[in-house]
Amino acid sequence: MNASVSPFIDLDWDAFDPWRIQPFKHRLVDHPLLQTEQLVELGKRCRGTTRWYSFNSDITAGTDFDDASDLFPTKLSHVDSLKDISNAKAWVLLRHIQADPLYRELVDAVINPMQSQIQRKDPGLYYRAGWIFSASPNTATPFHIDRSHVFLFQVRGTKTVYVWDAEDTEVCSDRARDGFHMRHDLSRAPWHEEFRQRAHVFTLSPGTGVYMPLTSPHMVETSQEASTTISFTYNTDATRRNARVHVMREMLHRIGMKPPAYGKNQAFDFAAFAAASAIAVCHGPGGHPPTCPSLVKKSEYAVAD
Ligand SMILES: [Fe+2]
Repeated sequence: MNASVSPFIDLDWDAFDPWRIQPFKHRLVDHPLLQTEQLVELGKRCRGTTRWYSFNSDITAGTDFDDASDLFPTKLSHVDSLKDISNAKAWVLLRHIQADPLYRELVDAVINPMQSQIQRKDPGLYYRAGWIFSASPNTATPFHIDRSHVFLFQVRGTKTVYVWDAEDTEVCSDRARDGFHMRHDLSRAPWHEEFRQRAHVFTLSPGTGVYMPLTSPHMVETSQEASTTISFTYNTDATRRNARVHVMREMLHRIGMKPPAYGKNQAFDFAAFAAASAIAVCHGPGGHPPTCPSLVKKSEYAVAD
């Protein structure tokens, strides 16, 4: 056990596997930047930017994440919802907090001490980012996948996190991941209630968290109390390889070809990665948005998702 390398997180780094879901404990609960007053101030600084997103508590696990804000608008502004999240009947995300100088320090303070431990198993960490989720009681986060590895820290309240393995193609197919990496499109990843039966289920309370590898499907439900959660995300050489293979698979499907299942044919995956890398360098398909900018340039901090 090599647990005390970070001031904020307790994790068995010797057992850490970047492609396995793993719970952990942390010490961020009392951090001054995660208290309500500071979150409201951050929310104010996000006004007029794309660095916030919200919807109301009528959302369901199966709502399309990208349509959620239009389909389920909040009654209050995102700032007023943050001021009284217990009663706001809202879900508010403050995105890309690393763009805020104050919160960039927090992102660095958490990731820097973990970086060498992560890179022992998963080299080439880049594109770091932070996200703060505030949600009213009995509010879901729709079923979705993300384009980075995720460390999710529970700060206040309790919530149930349903998460499925990164290689679970019953819950989220290769085709869904192909389209997601190419276009940030979740339409091929519909929710089904029966997925709950095969999930890893974590009841997170303050001071606990869970690590979720790239494109591990997840869905979250808050309890009877309001919740505050912060996640720290990043990409690595391996996530970029994975995403580029999926982008190439999407291109091949478009011209009528049927690539082998992801991870089942090493020669194919290697060739797909090489081809996608060359096309990305030339800013062809997969080399510009809506494909994640992390596939093209290895910036230290995330610039978009
Ligand atoms: Fe997520």
